[in-house]
Formats: sequence, C-alpha cells, structure tokens
Amino acid sequence: MLFLKTLATSLLALSSFASAASFSNPLKQKDGSDPHIAWSGGYYYLMTTTWSNLQITRAKTLEGLKTGEKKTVWTDTNAARCCNVWAPELHYLDGSWYIYYTAGTSANLDGQRPHVLKGGATPWDSFSYLSTLTTTWGIDGTILRFSSWGNYFVWSCFSGSLQSLCIAPLTSPGKIGATKVLSTPTASWETVGNPVMEGPAALYHGGKTFLAYSASFCWTTSYSLGLLTWNGSGDPTLSASWKKSGPLLTSANGNYGPGHNGFFQSPDGSQTWNVYHATSNSNGACDGNRYTMAQIVNWKSDGSPDFGTPGKLGTTLTGPSGE
Ligand SMILES: *[C@@H]1O[C@H](CO)[C@@H](O)[C@H](O)[C@H]1NC(C)=O
Repeated sequence: MLFLKTLATSLLALSSFASAASFSNPLKQKDGSDPHIAWSGGYYYLMTTTWSNLQITRAKTLEGLKTGEKKTVWTDTNAARCCNVWAPELHYLDGSWYIYYTAGTSANLDGQRPHVLKGGATPWDSFSYLSTLTTTWGIDGTILRFSSWGNYFVWSCFSGSLQSLCIAPLTSPGKIGATKVLSTPTASWETVGNPVMEGPAALYHGGKTFLAYSASFCWTTSYSLGLLTWNGSGDPTLSASWKKSGPLLTSANGNYGPGHNGFFQSPDGSQTWNVYHATSNSNGACDGNRYTMAQIVNWKSDGSPDFGTPGKLGTTLTGPSGE
C-alpha cells in the first residue's frame, strides 16, 4: 500500500515535471513580432513589438509565457518617440537591466531611433528613460559583447539606399562611439523585395562569436535569418573581420518569413534557444499577426549553429533543459 502510494506520488511528480518541460508554439499568438527573451532569477522575460508601448511577460516555463504575468513598463508622451514602438530587448550591463528599443513619431517611420531605458537589479523593477543612441535613422539595436574588445551596439541603419547593419562601441549603456557600417545586404537572399539587414542578435558558443540578423523585406516570404561569424581576432567594427552565411532559417511548415530573433539560455545554462517570429500569411507579412516561436539551437561539427526549420504550430516540443 505504502509502495503503491509512493509509486503514485512519483508518477505524479514525473508527469508534472514532463508537462512543465514541454511546450508548443506559438508562445504568443498576437503581437508576437520581434520577440526577445531573457532568462534571469528563475523567470523567462518575454518582450515583443506592440507598436504603442513596452510590455514584459514573465513565467517560469516557456509554456507558462502564454498565460504569464504581464505588465506595461513604458509608455511615452514625447512626440519624438511616442509611437511605432518596436523591437524591445532586455540586457544586463554593470549591475542593472536596460531595455533597448526603437521608437519614433506618429507621422511616419522616418523618425525611428534606438532608445534605452534604465531599470534595476531585476527585469521586473521599474524603468526610466536614459537616452537616444543615434541622431539618424536606426532600428533594432542590440548588444554585442567581447571579453577582449568590450561591448558594442549593433543596429540596422542606412548605408546609401541599403538598409544595413551598423556597429559602434558602447561607451556607456546610453552612449555610443564612432559608427561604422558593418555589413550591407548584397546576397540574392538578402535583397528580395528590398535589400535589408535588420534585427541583429549576438550568439556565443564554444569560444566563437556570431551575429544573426534578418534578411530581405519583411513583407515577403523570403524574410529569413542570416549569420555573420567573427574571425576571432580582427577588430569587430571592420566588415573584414566577419564572414557572412545564409539563409539559415527560412519559411517552412506553414510558417512564413521567420526572423527578427533573439537568443536565450536554458535555465540550467546548457542550451541556447532561438526565439523568433513568423506569419501564417502565405504572402509574408510584417504586421501584428506575426506570432512568437521558440526552438533549440543545435550545433554543427564545425561549431556553427544549426537553426533547423520552423515546426508546425501546436506540436508538443521538449522545453529548455532545467525547467
Ligand atoms: C581577421 O580579420 C582581420 C581583418 O579585420 C584580419 O586582419 C585578420 O588577419 C583576420 N584573422 C583571421 C584569423 O582570419
């Protein structure tokens, strides 16, 4: 009797463990664009583009994000940055959390700039406005870290008529140094609809440093992930120090235009995961109907990432290790 009771208890524990560690996509069905996840202090913190404000959802499992605790952490009345609020990302620098995001005016997208808010010791603390990082058009800012070179800000900028990637040293969390164009969209898979490189996301593995980014116009099904691989020794602000490859995550299984991703670690730190958006619109789309998907990053024998393919929505997947 005691044995049966123990058995029943462990089966129950086993099944609740299994359900905690599994999930299905999408994690966010509506306004799931430009997702970014940070894992910290026992929670996943998810941010996506809402166009009007900055919201954070948190939960202890990926599946839990669907019904997680949610709060609006920023709404701005300043006309220069009230509107078209995009691509928020949480980054931890010098003991505090910061939100890097894009915003501009209500009139059009010409005023889009990268901005940063300063928070506290956890992502759930309150945020206040810190600064605007550029004086010209820029979107999708992120942080790129090197132990030997320090921190850089990387974002999407214009180089002539080409929407490209720019890089500058991050001299403090709210300020950048001299800007350089890091890479321009010239490959056939980067120029469908419009030449575009945007949504950069740093990736580190086995001593290697990568920058994933999104290529081609987001209103096409060719929107996809590309990759820049650092050569391990050259000045990170020089294009010659990076090698381009792609496309590495493309439309599949009813998910179109996968891209604008972020990377996060599993709770036990053993795995890297990719969070990105896609649309079910078979023409491709750049609107609020894009949903948030997550999947593990696997590694090829040469040390480069394997992003796999976007799986069919609703499939039960094993969650990140340590949930
Ligand atoms: C890395 O790139 C730089 C150019 O920025 C070059 O001078 C250097 O030789 C390269 N190193 C390797 C290991 O390829």
